[in-house]
Amino acid sequence: MTRAHSWPTDAEPNPGAMLCSPRMKTKFALILSLGVLAAGVPTVLAADAKANWDEHCAKCHGATGKADTKMGARLKLKDYSDAKVQAALTDEIIVKATLEGVKDGDKEKMKAYGDVLSADGAKAIVGLIRSFKQ
Ligand code: HEC
Repeated sequence: MTRAHSWPTDAEPNPGAMLCSPRMKTKFALILSLGVLAAGVPTVLAADAKANWDEHCAKCHGATGKADTKMGARLKLKDYSDAKVQAALTDEIIVKATLEGVKDGDKEKMKAYGDVLSADGAKAIVGLIRSFKQ
């Protein structure tokens, strides 16, 4: 198909028309469709955070964050239902610990979950951990 003569040729530069060049249009359409795609992807729901917690975190930190598990006792994990523990934890610490793990010098205390959780997934976990506070 030959293109209709609605586009300026290189011979007639026109700043206004440049804004609407086919290439720009393609780019714009791409950006638009990416936006639509992003809007169509559901945000990480609280239910997903709970499912992730149960699958990846609960065996150590406990279903309700109290670390009332064998691993929790062995590893002397913090009790996330404790308001004082919560106050000492910033959202950033939780996200970082979740995505990058927890290290004590060179020793890995907790492995990183950046391969199973997205940044949004980690943020949703923050909300979940906050809900453990009593
Ligand atoms: C194998 C046991 C284990 C699992 C599974 C585990 N953790 Fe941990 N986690 C630890 C240990 C050990 C620490 C360090 C001691 C502490 O802070 O209580 C820790 C610390 C943390 C901290 C506190 C970091 C800090 O600086 O105080 C957060 C937040 C955390 N874990 C979140 C998670 C999340 C979210 C998951 C699941 C995606 C998870 N953990 C899975 C063992 C585990």
